[in-house]
Amino acid sequence: MIYLKTDEEIELLRENNLLVSRTLAEVGRHIAPGVTTKQLDTLAEEFIRSHGAVPAFLGYQGYPASLCISVNEEVVHGIPSSKRVLREGDIVSVDCGTFLKGFVGDSAYTFAVGEVAEEVRQLMEVTKEALYKGTAQAKAGNRVGDISAVVQEYSESFGYGVVRELEGHGLGRKMHEDPGVPNYGARGRGPLLKEGMVICIEPMITMGGKAILFGRDGWTVTTRDRKPAAHYEFAVAIRKNGPDVLTDFSIIEQAINK
Ligand code: MF3
Ligand code: CO
Repeated sequence: MIYLKTDEEIELLRENNLLVSRTLAEVGRHIAPGVTTKQLDTLAEEFIRSHGAVPAFLGYQGYPASLCISVNEEVVHGIPSSKRVLREGDIVSVDCGTFLKGFVGDSAYTFAVGEVAEEVRQLMEVTKEALYKGTAQAKAGNRVGDISAVVQEYSESFGYGVVRELEGHGLGRKMHEDPGVPNYGARGRGPLLKEGMVICIEPMITMGGKAILFGRDGWTVTTRDRKPAAHYEFAVAIRKNGPDVLTDFSIIEQAINK
């Protein structure tokens, strides 16, 4: 069941996703060698609560933290830990959710810790560009497969792997609504996109093979070949005039590029 949102509901979703963007900016400012992923989780939780919101991930299906922090070969759903110390050259995918005024925010960004290898920098850039190309297809009259196909084609044209087992989703009063938004597929297939739909597009792209492993902690997803992966996520509303991106990466990029 796909729930179409009113303009007022879309503004509440924007409020949530702006708070997520500001939280990710705050996290990005603190990413450095020697910092633990637990420290980042603590500051995110405090930041979210200080804005009158609740971390949407905390307690979700028993998830024990406010952020998912996935380092290098970890693709998504890494659990923050005081034992996980960031090192120069790591890449860190941070996924954040909020619950405010009855709606959910959900966005993700992959950060570099200091200088990263050129090939890893390219993986990050291509994954973000795949998200942008997918977002451009998020317009009424298109189908979900139009988004999926461009994300897949662009990523694979660099020889990268596109994770199959996890996908984007509708976003609203619940974090995961219909439709599912896969990162692979065929143009013209899948659910029709309509004005008022809000979806999360979230490519998970690997430098090597697309195969993943589900960790023994019940959460952490890693690449099978232990090559690095990147993950970026936008919440996007489908409006009369095209895609309306509710997440704001410019806040994050201003915070980390100074
Ligand atoms: N943000 C993830 C998604 O995009 C879900 C996080 S799983 C949780 O679907 F358990 F941490 F909430
Ligand atoms: Co999501």
